[in-house]
Amino acid sequence: MKNRVTEILGTRYPLIQAPLNWLTDAKMVAAVANAGGLGTFGPNAGRDSLDQNSMEVMENQIKTAQHLTKQPIAMTLGLNPQGEEQSYAHKVLDRSLALGITIFMVGGEPDAEIYHQIKDAGATLIARSYNPTPAEAQRQVELGADLIVATGYDEGGVIPVHGVGTFTTVPRIVDAVSVPVLAAGGINDVRGVRAALALGAEGVFVGSRFMVTQESRTAPAAKQKLLASSADDLLLVAPNQRSLANPRMAELADRFAAGDHTTFQATRKLGGVRPAMLHGDLEAGEVSVNTGVDLIRDEPRVADLIAELMQDFQ
Ligand SMILES: Cc1cc2nc3c(=O)[nH]c(=O)nc-3n(C[C@H](O)[C@H](O)[C@H](O)COP(=O)(O)O)c2cc1C
Repeated sequence: MKNRVTEILGTRYPLIQAPLNWLTDAKMVAAVANAGGLGTFGPNAGRDSLDQNSMEVMENQIKTAQHLTKQPIAMTLGLNPQGEEQSYAHKVLDRSLALGITIFMVGGEPDAEIYHQIKDAGATLIARSYNPTPAEAQRQVELGADLIVATGYDEGGVIPVHGVGTFTTVPRIVDAVSVPVLAAGGINDVRGVRAALALGAEGVFVGSRFMVTQESRTAPAAKQKLLASSADDLLLVAPNQRSLANPRMAELADRFAAGDHTTFQATRKLGGVRPAMLHGDLEAGEVSVNTGVDLIRDEPRVADLIAELMQDFQ
């Protein structure tokens, strides 16, 4: 069943596997693509440590994925706040275009230069605000975005500071733009997909759920922790960051509750999701997941997960 999203992306289903930073790689991206979704590389995809050259790893990951699938795959460009230079995003964009990537998921406030370069190259632009508002979505469309991702507070990873949930974010962005909108934040099963469509979304952008799949490089210990956790185990450790509890994260949550505004930087100093979620040292750092973690109760193959989520699109 085709719709505007599948037409724009050239995929079988209107489903995008969201970037998961260190936890994505060529195997995951290709598995999603071969199962009919859009596989997306996050920053640090396939990288094991900071010692590795990020650009070299990225190029190898793209080539490996292109060997594993002939279906479309996408690259993430994470933009710095407006006014700051975007040299790293430019570098990733140039190298990805040279290797034949034609779909970009651009996160952050819209940047005219990056947007125009993507459109001038004839590529597809998926725009995702970190703090979605109707005005920012309209600006993204004016600058050439083909698809908008409307992300609610329920999501995993870095969360919107304005605290607006998926249920209210999606229709407010749908009403503001004429291009198709994908819903993101807390979608872990077919009920979430159906709810997203009922709110006016034409596709879904799913991150956390893919961490607990057979093809995911998320550390086995972290997968087990996710399978055993519920939303009651989540702590707000910074205005824009949640984590499952461990002693370090409990300390940061206490500091944040007491008014400390440096706790997000503290999670970055600990290495973000890398120590706990890639290397499995569960006490060492954050364990990020969406608020729908109760719904993550098995470790399916990527193809089976996508078939379940997309059962209404057969
Ligand atoms: C461990 C983890 C890492 C993430 N890393 C990134 C990232 O590097 N860039 C980005 O734009 N979003 C990142 N996200 C956000 C996902 O793209 C997010 O999961 C998506 O918005 C969909 O929400 P969901 O997790 O509720 O499905 C990350 C999310 C998680 C759980």
